[in-house]
Amino acid sequence: MKVLVVGNGGREHAIAWALLRSPQVEQVLCIPGNGGTATLSRCQNLPYSVDDFERIGQVVREQGIDLVVVGPEVPLAIGITDYLQAQGAMVFGPTKAGAQIEASKAWAKALMQEAGIPTAKAAVFTQESAAKDYVTAQGAPIVVKADGLAAGKGVIVAETVAQAHQALEAIFAGQFGDAGKFVVVEECLVGQEASVLALTDGITIRPLLPAQDHKRIGEGDTGENTGGMGVYAPAPLVTPELMARIEREVLQPAIATLRSKGIDYRGVLYAGLMIAPTGEFKVLEFNCRFGDPETQAILPLLETPLEELLVACCQQKLGELPPIAWKPGAACCVVAAAKGYPGAYEKGHVITGIESAEASGGCVFHAGTRLGQGGQGGQGGLRESQLPTPERQFAQRGTPPHATGSSRLPTPVITDGGRVLGVTGVGEDFEQAIALAYDAIAQIHFDGIYYRRDIGYRIRNS
Ligand code: AMP
Ligand code: GLY
Repeated sequence: MKVLVVGNGGREHAIAWALLRSPQVEQVLCIPGNGGTATLSRCQNLPYSVDDFERIGQVVREQGIDLVVVGPEVPLAIGITDYLQAQGAMVFGPTKAGAQIEASKAWAKALMQEAGIPTAKAAVFTQESAAKDYVTAQGAPIVVKADGLAAGKGVIVAETVAQAHQALEAIFAGQFGDAGKFVVVEECLVGQEASVLALTDGITIRPLLPAQDHKRIGEGDTGENTGGMGVYAPAPLVTPELMARIEREVLQPAIATLRSKGIDYRGVLYAGLMIAPTGEFKVLEFNCRFGDPETQAILPLLETPLEELLVACCQQKLGELPPIAWKPGAACCVVAAAKGYPGAYEKGHVITGIESAEASGGCVFHAGTRLGQGGQGGQGGLRESQLPTPERQFAQRGTPPHATGSSRLPTPVITDGGRVLGVTGVGEDFEQAIALAYDAIAQIHFDGIYYRRDIGYRIRNS
C-alpha cells in the first residue's frame, strides 16, 4: 500500500511511523511533513500546503495512493475528504459536514443536546450586549468560546465577570475573525480532563486507549493553555467501567445522531471530557481527528496494524475486525517547546541529540522541525531542494536509500515551530515509561528548549 499523510505535526510523524511498521505499507508520502517524516525510511515529504486540494488530488492520482490519512482539523473542516472522495480516493477523516463537530462549537453543542450527551450548560450569542448580560447573570468562573477554529486559542476560562466581558469584547471586535461570529458561553466545569479517541466507520465504534494531556505550559498545570505539553496512556482515571459508560453515553449517541442527520462519519471521533471528583463526566468538546500529542503516546502501544484499522473505517467494515490489540504497559510522551511558546517563539535553532535519545530507548516524534542548514527564520514545508542528497534521490527515483532502520543520515534538524518535538517512552508500567521519556529527552538540546518536568505527576503522586 501507498499511503498519503496530510499534515506536519508530531501526530503526523507518529501516524507515518506507525503505518510503516505494517508489512502491508510500502511507502508513505507526507504533505508537507516535517524533519521527522523526512528522515523516516520509506517516507517522503512533498512541499504542498494542506489546503491545496488540487495538488493533493494530483499526487493521489499520479502516485497511485491507496489511502489518504488527514491529520489536522483545518483541511477536514474545509472539505478535503469530500474533494478527494469525489475523485474516487479512499480518505480517512470525516467530510466537511462531519467535521462541524469540531469546527463549530455551537453546532457541536446543539448535537450534544439533541443526542442527550452530558455536557456543560451553555448559551450561544451573536450580540456582545446579550452575551455580557448572560455572563453577569451567571457569575464567574465562566467559560467563553469562539465558535469556530482558532488554533486552540478560542477558549477563555474566565475567573471573573470582568475577564469574561473582556474576552467577549475582544471576540466580537474580531480577534478570531469569522470564528468569533458566534460565541458559546458555558458553565465552568471542574475535575480532571481526559481524551477519549475512537475510530469509527459511521456505524461501529472502537475506542482507543484513553489518554491524559497536560494542556498548560507550566508545571503543576499553571500558566497559559497550549496545544498540549505531554500525555500518557492508558489513563488510569478512565477505568474500564467509565470507558464503557463513555462509549454508551457519548460516542454511540454522537455517531447515531450524526447518522440521523445524514452524516456518514468515518474517522476519529475524539471526546475531550471533564471528569469530576465524583466520577461524573461531561463532554468539553469534540474533535474530528487524532489528538496531538495523544497520538504520540497511543500509537506506540498499538499492536494491530494501523492501516488495517483505517481502511476498515473507510470501507465501513470496522465491525468485522477482531478487537484492537494493544501492547501491555504504558506510554508517556513529553513535548519539548521553543522558547516563548505558546506566545511568540524562536525558530531556526539546530537540534542535537536525537540519535542519543533514540538510542536510549525513546521514540522521537518531530513536530515543528525541518531539515536544513540552520540560521534564523525557518521556512514552512520542506522543498525538494532543501532535502539532503539521499532524500532528494529518493524523491526523484522513488527508492529508499536505506531499506531498514527508523532514521537515516544525521543532516541538521532545525527548530521550525512552537512545539518542536515529543519524546515517548514505552514501558512495562508508568514509572518506567516516564523515566524512559525523561532520560531520552535529556539527550536533546536546542537553544531555548523548554519542557515540563512533571508530566505524569498525577500518576506518580497516586
Ligand atoms: P479547546 O481549545 O476547545 O480544546 O478547549 C481548551 C481547554 O479549555 C480545554 O482543554 C479545557 O481545559 C478548557 N475548557 C473548555 N471548556 C471548559 C469548561 N466548560 N469548563 C472548564 N474548562 C473548560
Ligand atoms: N491535545 C489536544 C488536541 O489534540 O486537541
